Amino acid sequence: MIGILLLLLLLLLLPLFLYIAAPQIRKMLSSGVCTSAVQLPGKVAVVTGANTGIGKETAKELAQRGARVYLACRDVQKGELVAREIQIVTGNQQVLVRKLDLADTKSIRAFAKDFLAEEKHLHILINNAGVMMCPYSKTADGFEMHMGVNHLGSGVTTYSVHPGTVNSELVRHSSFMKWMWWLFSFFIKTPQQGAQTSLYCALTEGLEVLSGHHFSDCRVAWVSAQARNETTARRLWDVSCDLLGIPMD
Ligand SMILES: NC(=O)c1ccc[n+]([C@@H]2O[C@H](COP(=O)([O-])OP(=O)(O)OC[C@H]3O[C@@H](n4cnc5c(N)ncnc54)[C@H](OP(=O)(O)O)[C@@H]3O)[C@@H](O)[C@H]2O)c1
Repeated sequence: MIGILLLLLLLLLLPLFLYIAAPQIRKMLSSGVCTSAVQLPGKVAVVTGANTGIGKETAKELAQRGARVYLACRDVQKGELVAREIQIVTGNQQVLVRKLDLADTKSIRAFAKDFLAEEKHLHILINNAGVMMCPYSKTADGFEMHMGVNHLGSGVTTYSVHPGTVNSELVRHSSFMKWMWWLFSFFIKTPQQGAQTSLYCALTEGLEVLSGHHFSDCRVAWVSAQARNETTARRLWDVSCDLLGIPMD
């Protein structure tokens, strides 16, 4: 009888323990912190998909360090609300919103044209926007949505980054994944923790020699043999240029 009572007590106390210990558990499980002290006055940064999740935290940190930060968002209204929030938190008024829908190459070209007219330099580009598990649909140019937004829309990045498993809106299209994220929310990274590897790659001095590598938890990470295959990479580049009507070099 006492054994059962103790077991019941344990079962009741476990959620309370997890709730109280959650920040410590998450900290223990999420390695990789950007420790760079670099300040960014006079620098210009663009963060795509900056109105929520990892992008929002990345933009906030860049603004905190003094950069002029462009939030490139498909929903300008959502972007403006976040820009205001970042301005208040960081005291940096140079947080600007520009329309960018990666599911439409016309929008991407318009964004680039306007940006070039507005700024002489771009110091930091964070290609953060992305979708996952959205129902089958096509971009304005007829590409499957994941392929169109995550690959063709974002273009080819200098570094590729895996943020870890992060509690964001990425799972919005799957009830099952939303439930899983909720269930394991004690253990998965916060968006602020998820932003660390992007920040590390953007801010760490001397990292240029590792250009083209894949990063996770603020260090170079393993990639499969297929991903390291030069012939496959060349073919992907050529096919992507062909799909977008960009002349191959
Ligand atoms: N969370 C994770 O565990 C995880 C794991 C691996 C990789 N990632 C990658 O990390 C990046 C950030 O994801 P997150 O976790 O922060 O997800 P999120 O909270 O869903 O944020 C995604 C951002 O991308 C934007 N976006 C989506 N489609 C777009 C489009 N067509 N044009 C412009 N912006 C668009 C979203 O804008 P709206 O709000 O308007 O939709 C949102 O701002 C993504 O590339 C994702 O694939 C995340």
